[in-house]
Amino acid sequence: MSTNTSAATSTSKRLQGKVALITGGASGIGKCSARVFVKQGAKVVIADVQDELGLSFCKEIGSEETISYVHCNVTCDSDIQNAVDFAVSKYGSLDIMFSNAGISGIMDPRILATEIEDFKRVFDVNVFGTFLAAKHAARVMIPAKKGCILFTASVTSVTFTEGPHPYVTSKYALLGLAKNLCLGQYGIRVNCISPFLVVTPMMRKATGLMQMEKEKIQAAVSASAILKEAVLEEEDIAEAAVYLGSDECKYVSRINLVIDGGFSLANPSFAMAMKSLIS
Ligand SMILES: NC(=O)c1ccc[n+]([C@@H]2O[C@H](COP(=O)([O-])OP(=O)(O)OC[C@H]3O[C@@H](n4cnc5c(N)ncnc54)[C@H](O)[C@@H]3O)[C@@H](O)[C@H]2O)c1
Repeated sequence: MSTNTSAATSTSKRLQGKVALITGGASGIGKCSARVFVKQGAKVVIADVQDELGLSFCKEIGSEETISYVHCNVTCDSDIQNAVDFAVSKYGSLDIMFSNAGISGIMDPRILATEIEDFKRVFDVNVFGTFLAAKHAARVMIPAKKGCILFTASVTSVTFTEGPHPYVTSKYALLGLAKNLCLGQYGIRVNCISPFLVVTPMMRKATGLMQMEKEKIQAAVSASAILKEAVLEEEDIAEAAVYLGSDECKYVSRINLVIDGGFSLANPSFAMAMKSLIS
């Protein structure tokens, strides 16, 4: 009886037998995804620049048989090359490349306040880093004739949120890159995930809300959200990544999975203006 139960549990793991590399996996959405991926049976390599955080997180959630950390600055070709090669030599393949590392840059949305160096820095990490991740993933996935490449874009890639130009345009660029990759002929799926605001270290740093309680920030975000009675958490993005990385969505490619509770489709300003006339 107990044997049957454990067999059922292991076969129901949605990423069983898969090897995933997650960039930006030492913090926030990437870290949470690494945790959920391991829970779903994947072997995971975390690639990040925050070595202490990455190493201690790996120790916390599993043995080296399951999860490893590799230092990798995504803007450096040889670092990404090394991370991909490490995943293949350590765990035997690369099935999922989750290119998730990103930075917000300076949060000033005014064009005249946009600093050129900041623009270049944001593009270097968010766009060039993702390009390198896709390139090296494709290098090993094309001969294997299978694989899944995921990018973390953002709700800012589909609707106006008055974000800073470098960040917003970098996320739009990822949608373009995903569309242009055209790896279906090799059995490789490419998809984007676009989250609404999630309370993570990046979000806190970008907004200067380092010390504020999570619930207070979430309440403010929820006030602007269209979908009520639910709060977007890192886990929701991780679960979306599990879905896109799993065989359950073996025919899903070139989509941008927007996780925003319908926010990007709604513009209440017209209705509000009309109501103000009536009341
Ligand atoms: N938090 C949100 O509200 C939100 C919303 C939409 C999209 N996103 C996107 O989600 C992704 C993850 O962000 P997060 O909120 O979890 O932030 P985070 O800061 O918690 O995590 C990002 C990770 O990326 C790593 N990183 C940054 N530069 C790197 C580099 N050059 N090389 C390797 N790793 C690097 C950081 O060290 C960090 O561990 C980002 O691409 C971000 O743009 C976040």
